[in-house]
Amino acid sequence: MAPADIKRIGVVGLGAMGAGIAQLAIEAGYETVGREVTADLAQAARARIAHFLQRKVDKELIAAAARESALASLSLTTELEDLADCDLVIEAIVEDLEPKRELFRELEGIVRAETVLATNTSALSVTEIAAAVSMPERVVGMHFFNPAPLMPLVEIVRAELSSDEAAETAFAVGERLGKRPIRCHDTPGFVVNRVLIPLLNDCLRVLDEARVTPEDLDAAMTAGAGWPMGPCALVDLVGIDVHVHASEALYEKLREPRMAPPPRVVSMRNAGLLGRKSGRGFYRYDD
Ligand code: 3HC
Repeated sequence: MAPADIKRIGVVGLGAMGAGIAQLAIEAGYETVGREVTADLAQAARARIAHFLQRKVDKELIAAAARESALASLSLTTELEDLADCDLVIEAIVEDLEPKRELFRELEGIVRAETVLATNTSALSVTEIAAAVSMPERVVGMHFFNPAPLMPLVEIVRAELSSDEAAETAFAVGERLGKRPIRCHDTPGFVVNRVLIPLLNDCLRVLDEARVTPEDLDAAMTAGAGWPMGPCALVDLVGIDVHVHASEALYEKLREPRMAPPPRVVSMRNAGLLGRKSGRGFYRYDD
């Protein structure tokens, strides 16, 4: 499907990433269908998007009417069948291979043959996800960064069998969403996570090696290396579970010791200290 033909976008999974992607889509003027497994989760995503758009109105970044029309172009559903008319579907569900493969298989039976199917996976193989469907050429990666509405990058990932058309359509949609898209191939961690995951793990090992506090480590990397936020605050933002999972997935594929998650974060994950989303990680969060 050509970029100009993309009018309606489906987003499957409306957690922090999916809600952020849906927000980008409605702000860019796309009719957007968001799918969650329960109506409550879908409503929570709408409330989150409405909140962030209201903050933009408060700061006079957008007009109140723009907020209303953006929200009016978002429809929510619990039924995958409601994505039948979407020209592009972006999935942001749980970061496990089998559920993603199953979802794409199901989607293939629902959407039109020209619909582009994109995955927001961070560390899984887009090629393995694409292999679940009978037309793998229409599957690409569109990897957004957390928080999706604020981070300018989107990685457009070509799987082994992605068509030029699907990759270029995803690239053009990325641009229309206001992002800086880059093109890359399906290798473990793509570009950013291939570099960032081992770097964050090095940072987290330094906590124990140098017996530095999370506050001081974060101060070191912001004040000494110019990072916009420190590594502990960043892993809390991304989610301790997401970081551990991405580290494990990359370690499994690359076998580089620096990719392996440090035991400290594995214990935190096991104890339910997941960062911002659980209210406690390296730091405590009240809101
Ligand atoms: N969704 C939508 N809007 C949001 C938001 C979110 N999650 N979070 C904040 N906003 C809005 C808020 O309205 C906020 O204003 P408010 O607080 O007055 O309401 C507004 O954006 C500005 O927010 P901040 O003041 O927090 O913005 P900053 O200028 O401080 O920048 C930042 C925040 C962009 C997060 C910056 O600190 C940064 O660049 N940090 C690094 C983030 C990073 O590296 N992300 C990549 C993680 S790796 C990854 O995602 C890969 C994955 O595969 C694991």
